Amino acid sequence: MEVVIVGDEAQAGNLGADIIEQHVRAKPDAVLGLATGSSPLSIYRALADRVQAGTLSLARCKAFLLDEYVGLEPGHPEAYRTVIDREFVEGVDIDPTNVQGLDGLAEDIPAMCQAYEEAIAAAGGVDVQLLGIGTDGHIAFNEPGSSLASRTRSKSLTGQTRRDNARFFDGDVDQVPTLCVTQGIGTILDAGHLVLIALGEGKAEAVRELVEGPISALWPATALQLHRHVTVILDDGAASRLRLRDYYEESYAAKPAWQGY
Ligand code: F6R
Repeated sequence: MEVVIVGDEAQAGNLGADIIEQHVRAKPDAVLGLATGSSPLSIYRALADRVQAGTLSLARCKAFLLDEYVGLEPGHPEAYRTVIDREFVEGVDIDPTNVQGLDGLAEDIPAMCQAYEEAIAAAGGVDVQLLGIGTDGHIAFNEPGSSLASRTRSKSLTGQTRRDNARFFDGDVDQVPTLCVTQGIGTILDAGHLVLIALGEGKAEAVRELVEGPISALWPATALQLHRHVTVILDDGAASRLRLRDYYEESYAAKPAWQGY
């Protein structure tokens, strides 16, 4: 696991975009894994700048979303598919029909989840997966107690996650759905390169557990310690509780260029 501590959100966005760009240059039809929420927005902005400047094209890429709320009507401004269209798809040149999300209105949720797993596999698997982290340590919507081997399925959101996400629903926690569908931790661990971005002191405890804590279903993000290629991008606040922070900074500063990301 490589931990990179950057100066601000814009630098975090540029680094995340550099990583995606490295994958797309190596494989122009790369499969991207997309996260929603606030954390990846600077990456999406940086990618849009590059595409609009003509220095990068995502035209041949495919993409899969990590998760979706259950029960929001199609086109709801906070449905994750709507958010991804607004924050990512509209700014870049990816074909919107090559961007797949989970259907939070499916009549048969288990069948939809199984079909989603099959669609990811048919695309050849996710090459680079963007992730945020919840203050309770969730990745995608795998809340504490999730099986570390889980596959795509329905989950209940914790009260903490619903309170955290109320900011997207006029501050009204009652508007935040209680159910979601989410890629499982096992599904996420199948991706080739995991890139987690966390910003702000509110994430510091979860980040400390993710990077330095014991692997535990209590902090689902700790499962990333089992993956062989993880980059964790942090700002100062999110890194503030790491015990080995100096070591991560020294290692990154001395990193040989040939290693890439
Ligand atoms: C959303 C997702 C979630 C968020 C997490 C952090 O697709 O996968 O795990 O990344 O809830 O959300 P923000 O970035 O809004 O703090």
